[in-house]
Amino acid sequence: LANGLALTPPMGWNDWNAFGCAVSAQLVEQTADKLVASGLAADGYGYVNIDDCWMAPNRDSAGNLVPDPAKFPDGIKAVADYVHAKGLKLGIYETAGTNTCAGFPGSLGHETQDANTFAAWGVDYLKYDNCNNQGVPSQQRYNAMGKALAATGRPIVYSLCSWGTEDVASWGGSVGNLWRTTGDISADFGSMLSNFHTNVALAADAGPGAWNDPDMLEVGNGMSAVEDQTEFTLWAEMAAPLISGTDLRTASANTLRILGNRQVIAVDQDALGRQGTEISSSGGLDVLAKPLSDGSVSVVLFNENATAATISTTAAAAGLPTGSKGGYALQDLWTGRTTVSGGTISAAVPGHAAVMYKVTPAKRTLPPSTSLLTTLPS
Ligand code: GLA
Repeated sequence: LANGLALTPPMGWNDWNAFGCAVSAQLVEQTADKLVASGLAADGYGYVNIDDCWMAPNRDSAGNLVPDPAKFPDGIKAVADYVHAKGLKLGIYETAGTNTCAGFPGSLGHETQDANTFAAWGVDYLKYDNCNNQGVPSQQRYNAMGKALAATGRPIVYSLCSWGTEDVASWGGSVGNLWRTTGDISADFGSMLSNFHTNVALAADAGPGAWNDPDMLEVGNGMSAVEDQTEFTLWAEMAAPLISGTDLRTASANTLRILGNRQVIAVDQDALGRQGTEISSSGGLDVLAKPLSDGSVSVVLFNENATAATISTTAAAAGLPTGSKGGYALQDLWTGRTTVSGGTISAAVPGHAAVMYKVTPAKRTLPPSTSLLTTLPS
């Protein structure tokens, strides 16, 4: 969506995956504190997002949405103020239907009033779900809220939680900043893999301001350490939103290490905004390539299988210029180690793991006839 927002994929946190309906002001504010204290805010995780179940069961007599007084005793604006004071932004959740998925009042038919409420509270991001939609076409429902948000004049990232229905990837970019391409993720490798497969095929629809959303990160929620790192690698390669769905207050050192890998984040956040594509896939061994703005390419070698395998491709297949005299520098973004290759890109990849190389044509050495000195002013 050309609203000037989300020119790179949104980064932040959302409570749903780890807490379900147990959201509260305290949880949101403690998470904001942890984002700053852990360094994740400085790494780019800027949105603190409230999901379903933040509301009281009914609108007030004027038809306004009401925060649950037990969970948000001082209302949402107070939480927004708290989060803003930390240099972060606040997200909220609603549904393009008569009720949210958990049964709270929905925004269908109340778009203008609710968008104005969110803007008045200082909300910066809306995740807009799809339950109880009464069979009204999604483009109509999602457009209505999009127009209402724009009319508030407040910059609000617009996240369509459209579950990949009604061919959303083909029109999502004209309506929202990101759109869900899949059903709900859960913290297991099969679920993550299924969302990856659906989302990776939709690369052509993504770009600055408009992102495919394979759902939030399950890093830290129960997959193995290898699988957690794989999800983060694949999501970054697909320029997916990086929205942590774990309890950051108690996150392990390994979870924080994964979420905080700045080299991998840089691939996700690259200014070119290209989603990585599968350049080969056979027998569960996948190769992905994502062109980056500095002329390098991020290459991922992903082993879907449970047993180790060698996965190989070439610089040419990954779209790098051929004939690089000095070969190519392969920087492993997880180990930090750099090797030089004449063109083969290959690794022994453990089961369920993904190796991520930033591949750069090596700098050419100057031909002997050239002297830098002759070009310097005397
Ligand atoms: C749907 C969405 C989830 C979450 C829940 C909340 O299932 O896809 O991401 O927001 O609703 O009820």
